[in-house]
Amino acid sequence: MNAPDRLDMRTSTSDATADLLTRFRTVRQHTLALVAPFSPEDCKLQSMPDASPAKWHLAHTTWFFETMVLEAAEPNFAPFDAHFRVLFNSYYQGVGAAHARTERGLISHPTLAEVMNYRAQVDERMQRLLAHGSPAASVQQLVALGLQHEQQHQELLLTDMQHALSRHPQWPAGQPPTEALQQTALAWLPYEGGLVQQGWTAERDGDFCFDYETPRHRVWLEPFDIGHRLVTQQEFWQFMASGGYQRPEFQSLPGLPTLGRGRGRVQRQVHVPTAGAARQLSGHTRRSCAGQPPKLFPA
Ligand SMILES: [Fe+2]
Repeated sequence: MNAPDRLDMRTSTSDATADLLTRFRTVRQHTLALVAPFSPEDCKLQSMPDASPAKWHLAHTTWFFETMVLEAAEPNFAPFDAHFRVLFNSYYQGVGAAHARTERGLISHPTLAEVMNYRAQVDERMQRLLAHGSPAASVQQLVALGLQHEQQHQELLLTDMQHALSRHPQWPAGQPPTEALQQTALAWLPYEGGLVQQGWTAERDGDFCFDYETPRHRVWLEPFDIGHRLVTQQEFWQFMASGGYQRPEFQSLPGLPTLGRGRGRVQRQVHVPTAGAARQLSGHTRRSCAGQPPKLFPA
C-alpha cells in the first residue's frame, strides 16, 4: 500500500492557525507513512483482544476530528457515514455507544480503501476549517488534542502491528530494517534533589498539556541517580532475571508498593514479574516489524 501524496491545499490563514494547520498535515501524513509498508491484509489483523487493527486506528483517529471538531464547527455538518460514529468510537461515552474493542477485527466493512477515503475527506474538511474558517480558540484546542491523540495511536498502531506480525511463523517484513543501536555503557547522573517545581508551563512546554499535567506544584525530591540513556530490553530482562522485583531497595519510591520486609515497611500483595517468570523468557524471542529473524533472550 502506498501513502498518498503529501496533503496539500492552498491556504490563506492567520499566523494563529498556520502552525496548527502545519502540525495537522504533518501528524496526519505521518500516520499514513507508518502504515504504508503494510498490506491491506496486515491492516485488518487483530491478534488479541487488547490490540486493534491498523485499519481501526486509521479510522478512529479520523473519527475524533469528525466527531469532536467538525460536528461542532461546520455549519452544515453531515457525517461521512453515520455508522462510523459507533464503529470507531472507543470509550467516549458522551458521544454514545461504541463497538466492542475485542471485536474490532470483525469490522470487515468499511474496507481499508474506504477508510482511507474517509481520512482524505475529513482531512480536506479540517484543512478548509483551519485555513479559511478562523476557528475559535476552543476549536483549536480540540484540534491540538486530536493531534496528540493521533500520535498516541501511532504508537499503539505500531505495537499492535508488531504483535500481529510476531504471530506469523515467517516474520514477514512490515518495515524496512533499522540499524542496530550501538549502546554505550549505562552511566548514572547524580541529582541533588530538594524542592523543585513539577508540572506544565507554557514557556517551557509549549501551548498544549494534558489535564493531569497541571496545576504546577512543588515537590520534594530526595537525592537520586538517573541513567543517561533509555534502558534496553536486554537490561530490563537482566533486572527481572536477577530478582529485581523482589528487592525492596528498588521498590521504596513514594507511590510504589513496598515489597520488602525491612523495618517500618508494609508488605503488600501485588502482582509483579518474578525471577522465575523472567527465566521463562530464556529461549523465547523478541521481534520487530522489520522482518528480521527474531532475537533470542539468553538462556
Ligand atoms: Fe483513542
